Amino acid sequence: MTSAQGWQSFDLLLTCMVVADRAGRIEWVNIATQHLFERSRRSFQEFSLESLFEDKENFQKAFETIVNQRAMSVTFVGVIAKLDDAVLVSASLHMDNDRVIMELHPIDQQTLSERSIRLAREIEIYQETFRNLAHEVKNPLGGIRGAAQLLDMELDNPAQREYTQLIAAEVDRLQQLVDRLIRPAQAGLQRTMFNIHEVCERVYTLMRAEYQDKLSIIRDYDASLPEICADREKIVQIYLNICRNAAQALLGAPEIKSPTITLKTRIKSRQFLLDKVYRQVLVISVIDNGPGIPNHIVDRVFHPLVTGRPEGTGLGLSLAQELARQHKGVIEFDSYPGRTEFRILLPLEEV
Ligand SMILES: Nc1ncnc2c1ncn2[C@@H]1O[C@H](COP(=O)(O)OP(=O)(O)OP(=O)(O)O)[C@@H](O)[C@H]1O
Ligand SMILES: [Mg+2]
Repeated sequence: MTSAQGWQSFDLLLTCMVVADRAGRIEWVNIATQHLFERSRRSFQEFSLESLFEDKENFQKAFETIVNQRAMSVTFVGVIAKLDDAVLVSASLHMDNDRVIMELHPIDQQTLSERSIRLAREIEIYQETFRNLAHEVKNPLGGIRGAAQLLDMELDNPAQREYTQLIAAEVDRLQQLVDRLIRPAQAGLQRTMFNIHEVCERVYTLMRAEYQDKLSIIRDYDASLPEICADREKIVQIYLNICRNAAQALLGAPEIKSPTITLKTRIKSRQFLLDKVYRQVLVISVIDNGPGIPNHIVDRVFHPLVTGRPEGTGLGLSLAQELARQHKGVIEFDSYPGRTEFRILLPLEEV
């Protein structure tokens, strides 16, 4: 292996470190990496970073972002291929002068599952709290609105009536928020068999009507997907919430030259979701080339009432995550400036 000089200190780390050139050719690996792959340092020679991954797509996107300097560092989840095994890793790429440095952290599937179960529980607790609060707020709202209307009828001065109308309008806005907080409790799925592309097309048409030529929408469907047994209206709701977020992020960033949303569908085999491995999982992605999720909310986007938009209520994603969970599915994302992808993962078959 060449260019080892300067990298030896990585041998002291327990983290797997791989050094490559700008073309992605591996130049050096540390001891932890040799242990992970159960291969000698020399055997990595002439291998590319890409060849370490079983699923090339996430790697390629991240690699391209790094070498084109669109971000300082990118983290993604990948599957690395070992001789007789596959390991899920969290991989980070960054540039150091003209070298690409990659860090690999194996992800214990137990941890992954615990994390998504914990997130789901957290959301449930928040929602329960907000729902109780919403019920408390709902009753007085009716009274305030009624009183404002009575007062409005008593007043002759139009300048004063403006205030009563303002009260009524603000109460209506609060009422809508309260209704949205209460609504997700109405569970119960009405499952039917359908082709997911019917939902995609409906959402596509709605988005076209809503945003017209303000942004481009590309469809990248895998036409061979099997039908799914799910609650069609709820899947539309999940999908629409995510698409609207993408559109709002794009329109909120006028510096983006050609705002584009890509609607993508794929199938994944042997996927771990929540607490089970499924033979087949439907992956519905919404990708945008917008500014990315603001840093200060990125860890909490699925929590209710967390919003990065002045006019947002912060309920879209928490509702979407709850609806996905009712289908034993999960919504996940990765986001950095220039590319945000939300994926709706819905199980088709259990192993
Ligand atoms: N594609 C995206 N790009 C950038 N930021 C996003 C994207 N999707 C979501 N976000 C951020 O996550 C926040 C939370 O989204 P969520 O849908 O839960 O609430 P909201 O859109 O603010 O309000 P609501 O959906 O209730 O009208 C958004 O306010 C936005 O800041
Ligand atoms: Mg939203």
